[in-house]
Amino acid sequence: MKINTAEFVISNQDVSKCPKNRIPEYAFIGRSNVGKSSLINMLADHKNLAKTSGRPGKTQLINHFLINKEWYLVDLPGYGYARVSKSNKKKFQKFITNYFEQREQLVSAFVLVDIRHEPQPIDMEFMEYLGVNGIPFSIIFTKADKLKPNAIDRNVEVYKNILLESIWEEIPPYFITSSSHKTGRDEVLNYIQSINEN
Ligand code: GTP
Ligand code: MG
Repeated sequence: MKINTAEFVISNQDVSKCPKNRIPEYAFIGRSNVGKSSLINMLADHKNLAKTSGRPGKTQLINHFLINKEWYLVDLPGYGYARVSKSNKKKFQKFITNYFEQREQLVSAFVLVDIRHEPQPIDMEFMEYLGVNGIPFSIIFTKADKLKPNAIDRNVEVYKNILLESIWEEIPPYFITSSSHKTGRDEVLNYIQSINEN
């Protein structure tokens, strides 16, 4: 898919204030610092569309980016960031879960996980939450430039096996990406296009 236009639309903390038009959207979620905002920039071919940072906790709001005037990429805050206060964490979780549970335009989520790490309980719990709520999702392995190809294969196999040993009977669609090397860009965009066309 060719990206012709990518525009920031709105940031907010309230699902009822998200754009009202009924076009498909795709949300990016995962641990703080996993590379959600960087991936959105890589997909949109736009360096500074979503704000990124080396320090976790950069994205704090629900951010809608309109792509080709036809669909949205949605950047979300990360979970699992230890330095947020407990009450803040609760508030944060509430507006994120409101988004996932109420946003009818959400077609599919992408759960981002760092390719270097074994499955983390917080990610497994989030995928389970999506499953329980009937929200389709795919997995995006990020930062593939940090590993050699054989280590990538090994880690993906470990991930798949652990998913199958948990509640999942099938492996969801998954993508191996690197935002710095633009790896996996066509695969993710073609996947989105195939859903948009159906
Ligand atoms: P929060 O908004 O804080 O939840 O983080 P995020 O998931 O949006 O992460 P972000 O895109 O801001 O990236 C976090 C850090 O990881 C930044 O220093 C990025 O440069 C780095 N990073 C992101 N993607 C990649 C990648 O593919 N390869 C490498 N090597 N670094 C990456
Ligand atoms: Mg971010």
